[in-house]
Amino acid sequence: MDQEQTITGKGIFRIDGPPKVRGGAKYAAEYKVPDLLHAYVVTASIAKGRILSIDLAAARRFPGVVEILSHKNRPWFWPVSFLYKDAAGPPGKPFMPLYDDRVHFSGQPVALVIAESYEAARDAAALVDVTYSAEQHVTNLASSPAFIPRKHRIGVAPVPHPTGDADRAFAAAPVKIESTYTTSPENHHPMELFATTVEWGDKIVTVYDKTQSPKSVELFLKVAFRLIGRKVRVVSSYVGGGFGLGLRPQQSVFLAVMAAKSLKRSVRLVLPRDHMFALGYRANAVQTVSLAADEKGRLQAIRHRAVAATSQFEDAQDPMLLFSASLYRCENVKLTYELAKLDTVSPCDMRAPGAATGMFALECAMDELAYAVNVDPLALRLTNYTERNQAENRPFSSKALRECYAQGSERFGWDKRSHTPRSMREDKELIGWGMATGAWEAAMSPAPARAEARLRSDGKFEVTSSITDIGTGTYTILSQIAADELETPIERIVVRLGDSALPFNPIQGGSWTAATSGAAVQSACRKLKAKITSQAKQAGILGRRPGTELLSASALADLLKLRRGGELSATATNFSLPFGKKFSSATHAAVFAEVRVDEELSVVRVTRIVCAVAAGRILNPNTARSQIIGATVMGIGKALHEDAAYDHNLGRCMAHSFGDYHIPSNADVYDIDVVFVDETDTQVSPLGVKGVGEIGVVAVAPAIANAIFHATGERMRDLPITIDRLARARGRAS
Ligand code: MOS
Repeated sequence: MDQEQTITGKGIFRIDGPPKVRGGAKYAAEYKVPDLLHAYVVTASIAKGRILSIDLAAARRFPGVVEILSHKNRPWFWPVSFLYKDAAGPPGKPFMPLYDDRVHFSGQPVALVIAESYEAARDAAALVDVTYSAEQHVTNLASSPAFIPRKHRIGVAPVPHPTGDADRAFAAAPVKIESTYTTSPENHHPMELFATTVEWGDKIVTVYDKTQSPKSVELFLKVAFRLIGRKVRVVSSYVGGGFGLGLRPQQSVFLAVMAAKSLKRSVRLVLPRDHMFALGYRANAVQTVSLAADEKGRLQAIRHRAVAATSQFEDAQDPMLLFSASLYRCENVKLTYELAKLDTVSPCDMRAPGAATGMFALECAMDELAYAVNVDPLALRLTNYTERNQAENRPFSSKALRECYAQGSERFGWDKRSHTPRSMREDKELIGWGMATGAWEAAMSPAPARAEARLRSDGKFEVTSSITDIGTGTYTILSQIAADELETPIERIVVRLGDSALPFNPIQGGSWTAATSGAAVQSACRKLKAKITSQAKQAGILGRRPGTELLSASALADLLKLRRGGELSATATNFSLPFGKKFSSATHAAVFAEVRVDEELSVVRVTRIVCAVAAGRILNPNTARSQIIGATVMGIGKALHEDAAYDHNLGRCMAHSFGDYHIPSNADVYDIDVVFVDETDTQVSPLGVKGVGEIGVVAVAPAIANAIFHATGERMRDLPITIDRLARARGRAS
């Protein structure tokens, strides 16, 4: 089809906008269900040990309390942990709330109060008196007794193999830098709280849940709670953000269904913000990067070692080294990845998991190297540019990173930068310009995706799929794809998503939904079009205006009349393309950041960010741009604010609200300029789409850290770069 006429590629407004603004869009905790009970979680106040006793007397007397569940009286589970494996679970034993008397982490659910109202459940929960026998815990990565080497991340990309002899090349090189970087644990904190409303029935259990995969939750619940005989339907029509925390069935759905099964009643559980600090976190890490180069800055050796946090019961593995062997041309690469087992909840994938942490270290190290060889940081990247993925020894299916550098730097005005630190200022503020490269996987889901397209009796086309829209724009882009395939105005497309009763789709994550579910929708619509065309031809009522609409509304009405109201439908399945051996695929970005640092107070303002992205075909510049802007704000948070700080004496995250867990607010965000560079890729996915959900966050923190160095001359290697840390570093220097 002529690109000019397609609706994909056009920046139409998101179709879920009006229902969200008007309140018609329902979230998990908003469904009206008759005879609903409310639950509230009692959480552990120690990090490790045993529950000795639970005194429920006062809580039971509280008006409105119906039941209080703990490991002592909860419904029977099958005590075999592999049954609780979920689609996104790492190796290990998944955590099962209220399983036994063991406490694995502070904030772990130890009891569940169920009452006639939310307020009664919440207030009674405060009266539950738990006595523990505490054991010595370790929550501090730096004092972890053991690091466990790990070679591969199961299920996602393995750590690339080493090449050459990095140690020898490092020793022999004329220029070298070696630095250690630390990152804090971060929490996901989507705006919508994790919540579940269970409508209990003898035949059907309907679970309104906040999740990134209704299908995974359905399968998980059926097995974990032996609901095989019942129909379990998981509905997540609208999801107020996920960032990865909803990739796995969460504690909320587990506990809500447990309560419903126990009482044979409908139950709602909304986890308050405080409890969301103990659901999962972006693994904190200590990383050492060594780079060696010749006098011109040509890389001779890269060594990257990462030690990352995980829990005692699961080996969560963030692919922190994913791009360290492939981003730049270098023959000698050595990568080491180790896990430290801590007494915390398991870390959980968080937007660009691994890459956002690993590339912070790598891209700051590149900036340090640029200053060691005295070349412009952007010029250093271009000197080491590679057209091949040397770690996999394959060409890229496409790689427009060079154009990202060119267009991003031009938009930013990078050529006006003076190289010397502390050389740019205005009034009381030091000005710093920094840049960094971003990369993320461009993959289709390893699991197949299905979609159905149907011609309804009202003449509209209905497209259905179980995939969620977590705020990414999935409703909108799938409508656009369907409209193009069916050659019909988008107003005649109705998309229904986020329901496990609809055709199977994998998790919404990995930035793969547009490519994966998009391809399934495209195939289903193509099949439906063929069906309609052949039937209409037979009946002699084919539309006469090719290129405008497949069939006019009146012709379709004739066709449906002919079929006596019988609808036409088609279902299609998309499998991941087996092109893996020939090409390597990735999305790329170049981020340029301006900071202004108050000379006296060390307050940092990120006044300007230009993010140039190469992500294949952009289906909708509006929704895609929103993804990059949102991710950029998250990157500002990673650089300057977000820190799930622990009191290691208590083994407990001390943040309980946005009062003490700081995320960027409006006043922290200035200009964000997004550029999508042209990139045509016929290999990566049927639509030529790479996905934009995660690439935006990867390069922001290193670009800001590098800009702070340029402004102040201080190399800040520990995130977040808070005012006190920067002031202390600058105090030491002067
Ligand atoms: Mo993403 S961390 O795959 O939701």
